[in-house]
Amino acid sequence: MFNKDHVVSIREFEREEIDTILDHAVKMVPIARGEKKSLELEGKVLATLFFEPSTRTMLSFEIAMKRLGGQTIGFANPSQSSVKKGETLADTVRMASSYADIIVLRHPQEGAARLASKFSSKPVINAGDGAGQHPTQTLLDLFTIKEEKGRISGNHIGIAGDLKYGRTVHSLTHALSMYGGEMTFIAPEGLQMPDELTGELEREGIGYHKTEDLESVIDQLDVLYMTRIQRERFPNEEEYEKVASSFNLHRGMLDDVKDDMIIMHPLPRVDEISPDVDDTKHARYFQQAANGVPTRMALICLLLDRNRGL
Ligand code: NCD
Repeated sequence: MFNKDHVVSIREFEREEIDTILDHAVKMVPIARGEKKSLELEGKVLATLFFEPSTRTMLSFEIAMKRLGGQTIGFANPSQSSVKKGETLADTVRMASSYADIIVLRHPQEGAARLASKFSSKPVINAGDGAGQHPTQTLLDLFTIKEEKGRISGNHIGIAGDLKYGRTVHSLTHALSMYGGEMTFIAPEGLQMPDELTGELEREGIGYHKTEDLESVIDQLDVLYMTRIQRERFPNEEEYEKVASSFNLHRGMLDDVKDDMIIMHPLPRVDEISPDVDDTKHARYFQQAANGVPTRMALICLLLDRNRGL
């Protein structure tokens, strides 16, 4: 089952639709790795409109398209586009949707992707809108949890870092509320998960806890999802400095964790995970980033298939 015209927020997805994408993504893995050839998207063009910095998200969308025989256009530096001349987002999107078959948008303003979807004649994928949502990151996060733990539901998942401004954790928390399990939110004071999201968990009957102390809970977790403090979203540098180095996960903290506990991170990391964690059996963040390719391949194919003839 898949009936989306655009991908703006994970809130608009049913669990069955997410499962459809994840099942499709499994089949994409050999193509994503370059082990199998595919021309499924030959003749199709994807436009990346990135108004905010990105490494993984933009590269993985581009690779996903190219490995399926499609092509990409776009910009990663709006100061070199007509946006600099004052062009509105609506006009940029209207024009791009007349050139390309599908649009991927990243923008600093919450709600930008929703607005873009109203002006686009082709599917729009939200690749992050301010502190709002980042639905494709959530799809690859869920894919990673399913691949590594065998299932999404029933895990105790700790989400740590900047839970106020982090869009990846907003989308992920909502998605996990559809699957069930136990959640612990680990954040410094003032950066905890918004009430709107914990309210959703309460309505779904999902147990959750809040703490500031990562070490007090780390041994109980099946999955630890770390995040970066979102410096660019703080009102000023002083506020950021107060919480900047709240967490530093290092090897010494992993002595008593569950044997099969996995550590995830959407990346980029700053200093919240020490490099000495990278070669432990728990680290999965680079595999997680690699999973962005098959997951995005699956999503692009499903969207284009549904919108064939546009
Ligand atoms: C995240 C984002 O842009 O929200 N990065 C990503 O897409 N992998 C996380 C972040 O910037 O901290």
